[in-house]
Amino acid sequence: MRALLLDYNERRPRVGEMAEPPDGEVRLRIMECGTCGTDRDLAAFAFGAPPAGESSLILGHEAVAEVASSSVPGMPKGTLVVPAVRRACGGPCSSCARGRRDLCVTGSYRERGILGLHGYCAEWAVDRAEDLFVVPADLAEFAVLVEPMSVVEKACDVAVRLHPEEPAHLLVLGAGAVGILAAWAGVRRGWRVTVVSREPEDGPRARLLRSGGVRYQNALPGMEADLVVEACGSAALAAAAVACLKPLGVMVVLGARNETVRLPFLDLIVGNRTITGSVNAGPEHFRQAIDTLAVVDPSWLRPMIERRPLDRALESFSAPANDAIKVVHALH
Ligand code: BGC
Repeated sequence: MRALLLDYNERRPRVGEMAEPPDGEVRLRIMECGTCGTDRDLAAFAFGAPPAGESSLILGHEAVAEVASSSVPGMPKGTLVVPAVRRACGGPCSSCARGRRDLCVTGSYRERGILGLHGYCAEWAVDRAEDLFVVPADLAEFAVLVEPMSVVEKACDVAVRLHPEEPAHLLVLGAGAVGILAAWAGVRRGWRVTVVSREPEDGPRARLLRSGGVRYQNALPGMEADLVVEACGSAALAAAAVACLKPLGVMVVLGARNETVRLPFLDLIVGNRTITGSVNAGPEHFRQAIDTLAVVDPSWLRPMIERRPLDRALESFSAPANDAIKVVHALH
């Protein structure tokens, strides 16, 4: 079968042939697979690993598939599904044991298409039913956004739990796919949302966000927010945005890198402010993501996706990044 591979011998991504996976509980016909910053980091060998004993990793962790065959009740042939990314560690781990692999405490979890397990940017895959989320057929067009949206739903969930009152204003840092999805998740929750990012204030991303009632600007100063979701990769911007947190405010960091920054600890203390990290998503976040994508205006989602044949997959890894918000590869 054809697949998008990360070749650890040649140290480069390539489209190549791989053996089809052996049969398992649910056989999946992969329809589409999205790419993201994690895939670009993998292609730069910043982290990740192929399955033990193999020299290539099938990339892709944002997938939509159709059940090709299964013996599982409730998952007949043709069911549309989105797989979870993370698989449980070998334990002992209280989080993995209760189905919250996203909170794994041993760190020895594996992730499809990222760490130790093949991903989904291939024609076929096999999974267990417990790792799959059923998506209504009428959400097929946007189902490829479920996985990144699940990360956002978890971030919002974490933020709300940590904020002692009803938050009203969400500030999102970054206008990539995760930032824009965070904006839509915030709008859906009834929050006022502002996105700060470096893309031009009269550019397509700014216009898309404004069409959904979101404020967009290039600079932080003067901003006050109850919640901040960092989705820009910049520790410097995240640190600067601490000054925007109102008392009781919560910042959830999703993508910032290790960098030396100055943090105003005294302001955190006297304002009861919180900075926390969040990664991956739990089952309830996948379900929330499906619900959110089903109710937000399709005109906010449609312009986010650019579909390409697998032959053009390598373009997604070449710099400079093009303007597509979410590049999606069609497998079937
Ligand atoms: C994925 C997460 C994953 C993380 C780290 C992200 O791109 O959306 O599910 O846990 O990368 O590997």
